[in-house]
This record gives sequence, C-alpha cells and structure tokens, in this order.
Amino acid sequence: MEIVIAATPEDAARLVADRFEQAVTAAGEDGITLGLATGSSPVATYRELIRRHREEGLSFAHARAFLLDEYVGLPREHEQSYFRFIRDQFTAHIDIDDATVLSPDGQASDPLAAAQEYDRAIREAGGVDLQILGIGSNGHIGFNEPASSLASRTRVKTLTRRTVEDNARFFETVDEVPVHVITQGLGTIGEARRIVLIATGEGKAEAVAAMVEGPVSAFCPASVLQMHPTVTVVLDEAAASRLR
Ligand code: F6R
Repeated sequence: MEIVIAATPEDAARLVADRFEQAVTAAGEDGITLGLATGSSPVATYRELIRRHREEGLSFAHARAFLLDEYVGLPREHEQSYFRFIRDQFTAHIDIDDATVLSPDGQASDPLAAAQEYDRAIREAGGVDLQILGIGSNGHIGFNEPASSLASRTRVKTLTRRTVEDNARFFETVDEVPVHVITQGLGTIGEARRIVLIATGEGKAEAVAAMVEGPVSAFCPASVLQMHPTVTVVLDEAAASRLR
C-alpha cells in the first residue's frame, strides 16, 4: 500500500484528482473505465475534476464508469439514490456520456439477480481501470460491512446500525435510510487494476489504522486492500492520526 498524507482535506482531494487526471489522459482515445464511489469522501475530488474539466479542458469523453453500490428500494430520481448523487455531484458536470455511467439497479424486482447481472457487466466491460473508494467508520468499503467474505461478489447486503446512523445525515430522519443495498463485493472491487482510497477527518482514523496496520480480516473489510498490488491511500492528517 502506498500511503500519502496530505496537510489538508483539500490537498488530499487534489492528489486524488491528479491520479485521475493522469490515468484519463494516459488512456486517451482508448478510453478508461472508472469506478466511482458516492458518499462525502470523494466529493471534493469530483469538484476539483469538474474544475479541471471546465478550466483546463480535462476530458472524460472516452471514459465510462461503474458505481460501487446503490440503495435497494430508492427511486433513481430520489436525491439520495446513488444513481442521482453521482450525476448531481460529478458526471452531469463533465463530458462523460451519461449512458455509460452505470449503477446497480436498486429498484429491480429481483435485486439478487440484478446484483449478479451488474457483476457480469463489469467483467464484460473488461473490468475497472481506476477505482476511487471511501471507507466507512467501521472499515467497510462499498457496502461490504464487517464479516463480509473477502472474496465476495456483487450482492445484496444489510447495512449495520452504525452505517445507517452514519448515513442518516443525508436523510431527514434515520428511519428513512434504506437498510438494504446492492454492493460490489470485496472480490469484485479487488479486481480493479488500480485503487485510490481517500479518507479525511478524525472520524476515519480508527478505521484507517485497522485497514493499514491491522491484520487482514473480514472484521475490517478494507484490510483486504493490503493484498492488492496497486493501492494508494490518500489521507489528511486527522485521518492519519492513529497510524503508528
Ligand atoms: C459509497 C460507499 C461507501 C462510502 C463510505 C464512506 O459509494 O461505497 O463505502 O465510501 O460509507 O462514506 P463517506 O464518504 O460519506 O464518509
């Protein structure tokens, strides 16, 4: 694991944006498959990439994207659906073709089959070239909660109480947070060719320490990234504060 500690959350976002810019530029017209996370961690990175698109001509015209996860049961147009979140926060503001920004179908009548279909679609597209990740305060990546199989594929998961409470800040009340999600599995995420995880703030410090310095264990799902050959973890000083 490459660990990069930035002075501020803004510096961390710029560093992650640099990785995206390098990869997108190097791929050129051959195109690149991006793996996109939602939640608050990547938002500053997305803002910086939008700025570079508008002011510096960074183009995503040859990129396509797969989201990590989606709530089960939220309509796509709900402002907290990840389908909508990624468009509002990122992809509607760059020149990526919207039809190539794919996410699990949280409204499918058969969510289990939809999850398997999504896993297949990622494979058939040739896999993810560059995946951005956040980390949950309990060490989840995607929505692979503690005790998830380290080899898991895209499937339906039930969120822990802690994750529901963490995510309640995006909803009017905690009771509105869906408890079921479709998430790429840890095995699926691990097939991405390059991974950049961004974590900022004291609230992530414990999970970051477990991910980087703890044993590889399903109790900290992000620790599986220790097994991946090309992972960069970008932290601000607060998120790095519990590293030895
Ligand atoms: C989001 C996702 C989650 C978040 C994690 C951190 O697509 O898969 O793993 O990255 O819950 O969320 P924030 O960034 O809101 O603290």
